[in-house]
Formats: sequence, C-alpha cells, structure tokens
Amino acid sequence: MRILLFTGKGGVGKTTAAAATALRCADEGHRTLVVSTDPAHSLADAYGLALGDQPAALTGSLWGQQLDARARMEDSWSEIRDWLLEVFAWAGVQGIEAEELAVVPGLDEVFALADLADHAESGRWDVIVVDCAPTAETLRLLSLPDVAAWYMARLFPVSRRLNRMVAPVLGRVTALPVAGDEVFGATNRVYERLQTVRGLLGDPDAASIRLVVNPERMVIAEARRTATYLALFGYGVDAVIANRLLPEAITDPWFDRWKAAHAEHLAAIHEGFAPVPVFTVELAPEEPVGLEGLRRFAAELYGDGRAADVHHRGHPMRVETVDGVHSLVLSLPFGERGELDLGRRDDELMVRVGPYRRAVVLPDSLRVRTVVGARLRDGELVVDFT
Ligand SMILES: Nc1ncnc2c1ncn2[C@@H]1O[C@H](COP(=O)(O)OP(=O)(O)O)[C@@H](O)[C@H]1O
Ligand SMILES: [Mg+2]
Repeated sequence: MRILLFTGKGGVGKTTAAAATALRCADEGHRTLVVSTDPAHSLADAYGLALGDQPAALTGSLWGQQLDARARMEDSWSEIRDWLLEVFAWAGVQGIEAEELAVVPGLDEVFALADLADHAESGRWDVIVVDCAPTAETLRLLSLPDVAAWYMARLFPVSRRLNRMVAPVLGRVTALPVAGDEVFGATNRVYERLQTVRGLLGDPDAASIRLVVNPERMVIAEARRTATYLALFGYGVDAVIANRLLPEAITDPWFDRWKAAHAEHLAAIHEGFAPVPVFTVELAPEEPVGLEGLRRFAAELYGDGRAADVHHRGHPMRVETVDGVHSLVLSLPFGERGELDLGRRDDELMVRVGPYRRAVVLPDSLRVRTVVGARLRDGELVVDFT
C-alpha cells in the first residue's frame, strides 16, 4: 500500500498533479483512492466529474472523495465537544459563542488524518493519493500527531489521575464539569488513529510527499522551507514536480526573458533538491482537465516510469560514531543556523526550526550521553554526544 501526498504553494498545480497521478495509478491497475483534504476542493473540477464526501467510482479502479472533515468531526468529537461546552458554560460562556469555541482550530484536520488511517487500514486500496491544502495547513496537519502525542503523554495521565481523585469532591464543591470516561475514551480513540497515520506517513516505503513547484523565485523559496520542515518531522519527499515550464516550442522573442528565468530556476531546483529527482511538466496550451487532459499531464510527468514507485529514499535520522564521538544526524535540507534551536529534555531532543518544533525521542545509545555540540553540514543537522 502506498500513500502519495501532493503539496506546495497555492495555485502551483497540486490538484492537477494529484488527480493525474491517481488516474495514472488506476490505469496501471492499482486500486486507487484520491482524497482531497483541501477545503477548496477542486478535485471534482479537475476530473470534470462529481465527487462527494464518500468515495465514489470515477473509472474502473479509480475512486475519489472530497473529505468533509468538519462533518467527520461532528461524528467522533461530539462527546468531547459536549464536555467542552459544559466547561465553557461553567466559565460563563454560553450559547453560540460556546459552539464556536468548541471548534478548536486545526481540530477538523485531525479528523481528515483519522479518515486517512481508516482508508489505509481498510485493505481496499493499493494507492491512496492525497490532494493536500497549501503548504502551511499541510505542515500543521502533518505535525499534529506529534503535537497530540506530546499532550497525551504529559497532560492526560495527570488529569486522568487527578480526575479519579478529585472528581467526587470537585463535582460537589464547584460543579466544574470533569471529563468522564466517554471523553477519555473518545480522545484516546482519536489519538490512536493519529498515531496510526503518523506511523504510516513516517514510513518512507508506505508514504511519499511530492512537492509541486513552479519555476518562480517565491514558489521555490517556500518549497525549500517546506522541505526543511518535512524533514524535521521525518516525512520523506520522493520527488519534486516542476510544473508550468515554458515549452521549447515557444520561440516568440517576447518570452525570451521568461524562458531564461525558467531555465535558471529549474537549474536551481535540480541543484538544491538533489538527490531528490525533479520531474518536469510544461505549460499546456489549455487547462489539463478531464480524464484525457489529466492522462496527458501524467504521461509528461512520469514518462515510462511508474507513478506509485518510491522515487527517492532519504535517511531522516541515524546515529554516526567517529573517534568515539556519537552523533545524531537528522536530515534538514536548506536548514539555516539562524532559525534553528536545540534543547535537551530527559530522553528527548527538542528541535525547533522556524515556527515548527519537534521532540525527537533519542535512540537508546544516546539517551545516557550528554550533548556537547551541534552543527549544520550539507543539509544535515549533526548533534554530538559524549
Ligand atoms: N501544466 C499546466 N499547464 C496549464 N495549466 C495548468 C498546468 N498545471 C495546472 N494548470 C492549471 O492551473 C490552475 C491551478 O492548478 P491546480 O492544480 O488547481 O493548483 P493547486 O491545486 O496547487 O491550487 C488550474 O486551472 C489548472 O488547470
Ligand atoms: Mg488545489
């Protein structure tokens, strides 16, 4: 089973690339599901076919679904939401306001991920293609399981124990609503599905991220940052798709400077992302929509290659030993010193890159050792231990 996620800046061609890839996988004989987690939901427009909240057949082996994460949230989260509403009511916040407060930002994305876990475990699909929201939301989505794990490990056992002891007392004295077994159960179910999906997405044989870019300075700059953050969380990028290159066939001198700029940016993409392969697609004479348009897009994108293959396998994390110094090596392409922060907490290394933070659980061999230094080396973060 393979999961392919497509992300990149808004408008670069994520939906087109995801739709074309899914169709290609289905044409190659894989039972394929294409899912959109982007609330913009343009997947149906790309195919020119209707898509709903449940998987629907598009061709013989291709199925499509536009996830309505919000509706899904209502199903599983109702116990917890009710409890939150009670807490808010207790705090003096009532009515519609409380309803709004209960919709914690990012919560709907949790359910998009949980749905993905269900699809992956169903055994129904050989390939699941995900048309993701633009980069920032996708990164938040992909960092969620780690964030949730952190909270669960630290807060839940404590509050659970506290609840057991103080609930009878508290219940009478202050009437503060205490999370009951249903809430704990519901939280735990969601949490477990998040960990399942984290395991899947962090396994380079199961999941690959494909970064879609255009040959433009700002798009590339964002893609580089995205690559750094994805590496921080240990997600593997197996290909970069450079979309909308000006075709060779254009000879009008008016486009000369555009063509020169594209060539320059394309070279920078190749150099910067190597050894990750860069696949190219030219600007088409019309929007690549409908099954035939998407098949042409896929043919240009993958040539004779197979769409679902793992096109590149990186090494997100490893331990090196040189002259008695043990080092933890984390892949961090385009990482920059100024935006990097490191800290040690028990058996975890806290790594912050820009706005993202990850608690990296240290391997056994390093747990008892002390950090003596850290440096960036060729797109890798090297942390030395004595
Ligand atoms: N290679 C291409 N040539 C011409 N038009 C393209 C190409 N790739 C994408 N498009 C068009 O560009 C627009 C944006 O693409 P889309 O896949 O929706 O981007 P995103 O999902 O990243 O926002 C769509 O109208 C799409 O048909
Ligand atoms: Mg899109």
